Amino acid sequence: MDLSQTLPAHRLEIRASEPGPKIDPLLYGIFWEELDFAGDGGIYAELVRNWNFEADPAEPLYWTAIQTEGASGSISLDTSVRLNECQTHSLRVDVLDVQKNGRFAVSNEGYWGIPVENGTAYRLSFFARSEGAIAPSIRVTLEDASGNVVYGSVSIEEIRGEWGKYSATITANGDDPNGRLVLTFKQTGTVWLDIVSLFPPTYPDSLGVFRNDLVTLLKEMKPAFMRFPGGCYIQGFTGIDQAFDWKKSIGPIEMRQGMYIMWSYFATGAMGYHEMLQLSEHIGAEPIYVCNCGQTMNESVPDHDLDRWIQTALDAIEYANGPVTSQWGIVRAANGHPEPFNMKIVQIGNEDAVPRFQADYDRHYFVFRQAILDRYPDMKIVQSVNQLTDDPEWNGQPADYLDHHFYRSPDWFFNNASKYDNYPRSEPAVFLGEVASMSPDVGEGNLWGAIGEAAFLTGAERNADVVKLATYAPLLRNVNWRNWNPNMIMFDNTRSYGIPSYYLWKIFMENTGDTYLPSSISDNLHVKHITLEGAVGVGTWGTSAEFKDISVTDRNGQSLADDFTDTSLWKQHRGDWELRDGVFAQSSLETRCWFEFLRVDTCDYIYRLRAKKVSGSEGFQIPFSVNDGGGFIWNIGGWENNRSSIMRTSGEQMLEVGQSVPIEVETGRWYDLQIDVHGDVIHCSLDGQVIHEYTVEPVTTPILFASVNRDTLRGDLIIKLVNTSAQARTTNISISGVTDVVDQGTVIVLANDDPTIENSFEEPYRVVPVTRVINNISTTFEYEAPAYSINVLRLKEKN
Ligand code: AHR
Repeated sequence: MDLSQTLPAHRLEIRASEPGPKIDPLLYGIFWEELDFAGDGGIYAELVRNWNFEADPAEPLYWTAIQTEGASGSISLDTSVRLNECQTHSLRVDVLDVQKNGRFAVSNEGYWGIPVENGTAYRLSFFARSEGAIAPSIRVTLEDASGNVVYGSVSIEEIRGEWGKYSATITANGDDPNGRLVLTFKQTGTVWLDIVSLFPPTYPDSLGVFRNDLVTLLKEMKPAFMRFPGGCYIQGFTGIDQAFDWKKSIGPIEMRQGMYIMWSYFATGAMGYHEMLQLSEHIGAEPIYVCNCGQTMNESVPDHDLDRWIQTALDAIEYANGPVTSQWGIVRAANGHPEPFNMKIVQIGNEDAVPRFQADYDRHYFVFRQAILDRYPDMKIVQSVNQLTDDPEWNGQPADYLDHHFYRSPDWFFNNASKYDNYPRSEPAVFLGEVASMSPDVGEGNLWGAIGEAAFLTGAERNADVVKLATYAPLLRNVNWRNWNPNMIMFDNTRSYGIPSYYLWKIFMENTGDTYLPSSISDNLHVKHITLEGAVGVGTWGTSAEFKDISVTDRNGQSLADDFTDTSLWKQHRGDWELRDGVFAQSSLETRCWFEFLRVDTCDYIYRLRAKKVSGSEGFQIPFSVNDGGGFIWNIGGWENNRSSIMRTSGEQMLEVGQSVPIEVETGRWYDLQIDVHGDVIHCSLDGQVIHEYTVEPVTTPILFASVNRDTLRGDLIIKLVNTSAQARTTNISISGVTDVVDQGTVIVLANDDPTIENSFEEPYRVVPVTRVINNISTTFEYEAPAYSINVLRLKEKN
C-alpha cells in the first residue's frame, strides 16, 4: 500500500464549456438484504428472538425455562395447539407446582441480549390460551441476564381458554444492554404462547417497527433508490423453498411464515415486502425490487413450473403499484398503504447468469421480461449478468440495465476506474448493484476501502451515460454475526456506526450534479513496485494434499528460518490442516485452502518443499511473496488439473501472469517443488526442471482521481478529488467555460494519514467528513488534497 512518491503540483483542468453526459438523478442508492441480521435483530426493532417459535422444529431456541425451589414445570414446542394455519408451533408451558416462594417462568434472551433503557416504555404483546379450572395470570418482567435485577414488570390477568391477544406496556427503571424478558406463571395449569413481542420506541411513523438509529443513518445518506430484498436472499441456496417468498411476508405478523435462509439463520419474515417498500418510502428512496426468476444459487426450477414464479413477480408489482381495486392493491391498502408505492424498476433474478446456469437464465429472463412488460409496459427491467468475471457480458436480450457486481480490492478499483470509458454504448446501461472494497487490506471497512470505491465512482460519474445506478453492498451488520465483511453500517443492540465507506457514499449522494464536466489531471501517474518479500506457505484448491521437507534458504543454502514453528506467523485461510511426523496434511476438499507460515524479509530466497496429492480435483497451490493486500501463488494442476501457472492474488482475486504450462498432477506421488525469487524474477521448478520464469512488472496507477459535475439548479460546480497517496497533493485547478465563480466555496474532506483507520463503537466518528469554507476561489485556484483523502468541493458559478 506504499504509494508515497514526491511529485510536483498537479493541474486539474476543467472544461465546463464541453458538458459531458447527464447524470441520472437516481445514480446513488442503497441495497437492502436480509443478511448479517440486517432485518431480524437489526432494523426490524423486535426484541424477542424466535417470537413465533418457528426457528427450529426441534426446540424452542432462545427460550429457557426457569424453575426455582418450590416450583416445577416444563416447556415444549407444540404442533397440535396452533394459533392459526401459518404458525406450525406454539410454546406449551406446563406448570406443575408453584409454592409460595417458588418460580416457574420462561425467559427469552433476545438477539444477543435484550437492551433495556431507563425510562423507556416497551410495547409488550403476546397470544396465549390456557387450560385448567382457573384462568391463570402471567407476570412479565424485564430483568438482567441472571434474574437478580428487575427493571420493570406488568401482570396480565386471566389468560382465557381460547387464543387471545394480550398487550401491555413495561417501563424500565434501569439500563442494561444485555437483559432478558421473563414470563412468570403464577398458577399451575397449562398455557400456550405464540407471537411474543416486545418493541422499544421506534422510528416515527414507521409502522411502529423500525429501529430509530438505523433508519436515521439510512435517511441521512439521502439515497435515491433502494434495491431489495437481495442478493442471494432472493435466490436461496439449494431448494427454492429457501428463496424469499414475499407473499409469506405480508399482513398481520401472526400470519407471517419465516424461513431458514441461505445465510444460515431463520428469518421470521417480519421485515417483509411491505416493510421494505415502506422503508424505502420513509428514507425517500425509489423502490427497486429484485424478483426470483425461478432459480436458486444451485438449481433452476423446471420450465413447466416457471409460471408460478412469473405470477409471483407480477403479483409483487401489483402489490406495489396496483390500484386499490386490484387484487393485491386491496391487500396493500388493508396493510395500511392505499397509495401505490410507484415502483418503476424491477430486476429479474440476482447473480443467476453464472456460466452453468446462463442458458436457463436467458430463457427465464426472456419470459419474465415479456410477462412483466405485457402487463406493465413502462416498467424498466434490470438483467442479471455473470458477476464472477471482471467483464460481465450482456446476453443480447433487451434490458434497461445490466446489474454489475464488484467486490474487489482498492487496487482493483484504482486499476478499473476507467472500466466504462470503452463500454460499448450500444449495450444496455449499467446498474452497479453491488460495489464494495473487499480484501485483507480493508479490515472491517477502513478508509483505504472507501478511497478505492471513491476512485471507481469518479469513473462511474464520467460514464454517466452508461452507469445509471450504483450502490454499496451489503448494508447492515449486527456485529454478533458475520456472513460478510465489510458492511456499511455496524450495530449491536444499542449502538451503531458507519464505516468510512458509509460517509464516502453519503457525501457522493449529497453532492451529485446533473451534468458531468470533462477534466484532466497532469503528472498523475504513480509507479508502484511490487515487492517479492512476503510470506510463504502451502495450499490446495478442491484437493487434499500433503507437504514435507519445507525449507527457505538464501543462495548459499543458509536457512532463512530455523524451523516453521513460530505460530504467531501462521495464517490459515480455510482447510483442515494437521502436522503429523513432519508432514503437513490438508484434508478438506474446499477451494482456496491456504496456510502461510513464514515471512521472508528479502527478495532473494529459494523456497523448497515436497508435495503429494491425496485426493480431489486439482493439485497444489503454493503461496509466496504474500503481503497484506495480496501476493503470488504457484498453481500446479489448476483448472481441474490441467495446467500450471503463476498467479497474482489480491484478496480473493487470482490473476494468471506469465506463461502457463500443461500439467496433470498424479495422486500419491511426491513432487519436488522449488520457487526461486531473485529481485524481480521468479523461477518455479518442478522435479528439478524450471517450468516458469516470470519477471514482475511495476504497476502504474493514477494518484488522483477526479470527477466534476454541474448542479444547474443551484448554480454549483462540484469537484470530487480522491488522493490515493501518502502525501498531501497540491492541485492547481483551472476552470474554462465559466465566466467566474464566487470567491468562497466549501469543501468536504474525508481523510486520515493512516488509511487503515476504522470507526468503531468506541470511536464511531474517528474518520468522518469534515466541512470547511475555502476562500480565494476563482477560475484558477490552488487546492491541497490531504494524504489519503476524498474531497468534495462546491463552488458557485457567478450568473
Ligand atoms: O451483498 C452480499 C451478497 O453478495 C449478495 O447477496 C449477493 O448478491 C452477492 O454475491
